[in-house]
Amino acid sequence: MDQTTTISRYDAVARALHWCSAALVVVVFAIGLAIDVPPKPWYPLWLNTHVLIGLTIFALALARLVWRAGHPAPPPVQGTSPRMASVVRLGHAALYAAMVVVPLIGLAPLFTRGRGIDFGLFAIPSPMAADRPLAHTMTEIHMYAAYALIALVAGHVIAALWHHFVRHDEVLLRMTPPRNP
Ligand code: HEM
Ligand code: HEM
Repeated sequence: MDQTTTISRYDAVARALHWCSAALVVVVFAIGLAIDVPPKPWYPLWLNTHVLIGLTIFALALARLVWRAGHPAPPPVQGTSPRMASVVRLGHAALYAAMVVVPLIGLAPLFTRGRGIDFGLFAIPSPMAADRPLAHTMTEIHMYAAYALIALVAGHVIAALWHHFVRHDEVLLRMTPPRNP
């Protein structure tokens, strides 16, 4: 039988949530870095897009944690030492924490700019007036938190690719849909 049909995978919901949040993390980080690139009149829309995608990542992370509570991850692949299994668990926990914390920290640079969130059907105004120096500091904190998230993601992606192309084990395939032989 084809090896890809016999491995124990993450279930379809966990896989869908993983790849949606992975794509959105890349997009929101790129928009963050390019926040000043579009012409000035576009800034409010561009920033609001960044905010809405960031909040979607937050919601997806919570959904993943709820789903994960009822649907455990497959057991570690064969040959994983207990110490390595703990490192992996810690790394994944750090990724979840970053997907929750970075968007929450994003509220600080937003509100200290005196800007709210436009959800289309309704809007949440900023609870405070603009404070430029504070906004500058809050943006830096949010930026370093975002860099920490991306550093974790980079390590995570390198580990996944190493497993697939160097170790030739099923770690990456566990996060992909089964293929028919
Ligand atoms: C995982 C989610 C997020 C990531 C990875 C992320 C990343 C970034 C990055 C890289 C920047 C550019 C910082 C700089 O170079 O100055 C930025 C700016 C910013 N982000 Fe986020 N962000 C996320 C979510 C959010 C959320 C949910 C909000 C609001 C609730 C938010 C609000 C802001 C604001 C206000 C700025 C400053 C824009 C400016 O400098 O004009 N971010 N973000
Ligand atoms: C870009 C943002 C990404 C984030 C935030 C992220 C986050 C996570 C988290 C939290 C888990 C643990 C799932 C659980 O056990 O509940 C996980 C698993 C996994 N991710 Fe990602 N991921 C990202 C991107 C990627 C990419 C690009 C790849 C592939 C190159 C990848 C490959 C995997 C694999 C293979 C697993 C399963 C690991 C195992 O079986 O132990 N991830 N990811």
